[in-house]
Amino acid sequence: MSKRFTEIPALSGGRTVRSIGRTMPDRLEFMRTLTTEGDLVRTQMLSIPIVFVNSAQAAHDVLVANAKSFEKSPGFRVLLYYLGGNGLFTAEGELWRKQRKLMAPIFQPAPIAQYAATMQAVASRAADRWTDGERVDLSHECTRIAMSVVGKALFDADTFDEADALGDALAHCLRWVNASLGSAAIPAHILLLDLADAALRRTSGAWRERVAAVKERLWEPFLFPGARGKELHAAVNVLDERIQGMIDERRRQGLSRNDLLTRLLAARDAEEGIGTMSDRQVRDEAVTLFIAGHETTATALAWCFAMLARHPEWAARAQAEADAYDVESLARDGARYDARKLDVCERVFKEVLRMYPPLLMLPRRTLEPVTISGYEIPAKTLTFTSPFVVHHRPDTYEWPERFDPDRWLPERESARHKGSYLPFGLGPRYCIGMPFALMEGPIVLAQLLRRWRFDVDTSRAPMPDDYATLRPMGGVQAVVRRRDGGAKIVHTAAS
Ligand code: HEM
Repeated sequence: MSKRFTEIPALSGGRTVRSIGRTMPDRLEFMRTLTTEGDLVRTQMLSIPIVFVNSAQAAHDVLVANAKSFEKSPGFRVLLYYLGGNGLFTAEGELWRKQRKLMAPIFQPAPIAQYAATMQAVASRAADRWTDGERVDLSHECTRIAMSVVGKALFDADTFDEADALGDALAHCLRWVNASLGSAAIPAHILLLDLADAALRRTSGAWRERVAAVKERLWEPFLFPGARGKELHAAVNVLDERIQGMIDERRRQGLSRNDLLTRLLAARDAEEGIGTMSDRQVRDEAVTLFIAGHETTATALAWCFAMLARHPEWAARAQAEADAYDVESLARDGARYDARKLDVCERVFKEVLRMYPPLLMLPRRTLEPVTISGYEIPAKTLTFTSPFVVHHRPDTYEWPERFDPDRWLPERESARHKGSYLPFGLGPRYCIGMPFALMEGPIVLAQLLRRWRFDVDTSRAPMPDDYATLRPMGGVQAVVRRRDGGAKIVHTAAS
């Protein structure tokens, strides 16, 4: 028999949601202590029940076994809706199911494989720009690279970074999301949406249409007036115009290009009679893929350099592998990416994603009463499953603070609980871009290690920053040294 909600351990010591803290170090400390209190820990905000989900089994219960009883947290949706609209990350219900089905074939490993050459070429171009002895922030460089990769893959745009109007508008929107993360306007916004939902259920006929129209307006970030709001609207207008322009161009050209935008436009499932996507939906998906597809990968890549600098034995292994596999060959016609040849780089990338999963939380809300790990959870409860918490449990990962890419040797990986590794989420809403990211990370890493040696400043302990993703605080400052003929990598503290 399942236990009552009130039997879930409550946050101890009079702590509340506010105790989560304002800075990332405080937040991570708060979350580390959660596991000592229970696999589930409960609290509340205003009258909303909240549950922190802290174990591999409980994470699996929420994200996989009972996924149907949850929706994404409305807070996330409020923040991202104005940018990504009904894109895959924020869509719910029937629309999400239809879109996931339409887009799944595009993101299978085989069609994604053709972007290996793009990943190599973009990384190579970034490496060409540096001069010997130059100081760079690798965190910033990785963002530029990941943004260009996804820009090229999505829009077939050759130069695509913040210097480009579209890249600049998207970066602006991301900064807005970041700045709005802890805003009190978000719960207020959710409350209004819930009220509109309740009103919708009670009204019919012409009134229902009016309430529905009001609800639609409520998705806009109207609670952010003034200059910030204006700048955001301007950036979103640039996005809309540029992406619509690209859609029109592809339609005129008869969908002959090889980019993801063309594939989205062509996506259909005639057998099931699902039909094509509207231009608005394609725009929403394109913005969503752009945002979801670069910030996370860039963060993980930056951590790779931070960790390799602290683990010279792994840096040497990754570099030896990069020297042995000529990733530049991917630029040749018909060349295929062979993941086995970048096995060490992939393990480094996966271990970094364990230690510093870019998304700190996977927030959900229960749609109905549900039993999780033996406890009854009422409808409308917010749950926060944290990959960071699960990945740092000593009963799940031995010596969790130790950087050990060999955890990802196949025999060790397959022995682990299926809810123990969540950087890409789990269940029906797991990351559709996972094959893309698992190819991009090792290729970019290998390409950069082949050409350059990185003297990374290791004088400060690595610490995640207060950002939408767990970026390394202060960036990853390094001096780049050109390698000649496979010189040995040496990582030292930069003076
Ligand atoms: C290391 C890189 C990446 C990480 C760590 C990551 C992480 C995640 C996570 C945790 C989720 C699930 C969120 C949740 O359940 O609440 C997710 C969903 C998603 N990701 Fe990624 N992601 C990465 C790269 C990418 C890339 C390269 C793309 C696209 C090109 C992408 C597109 C998406 C989309 C569209 C979703 C929503 C899927 C759905 O709800 O059906 N991601 N990602």
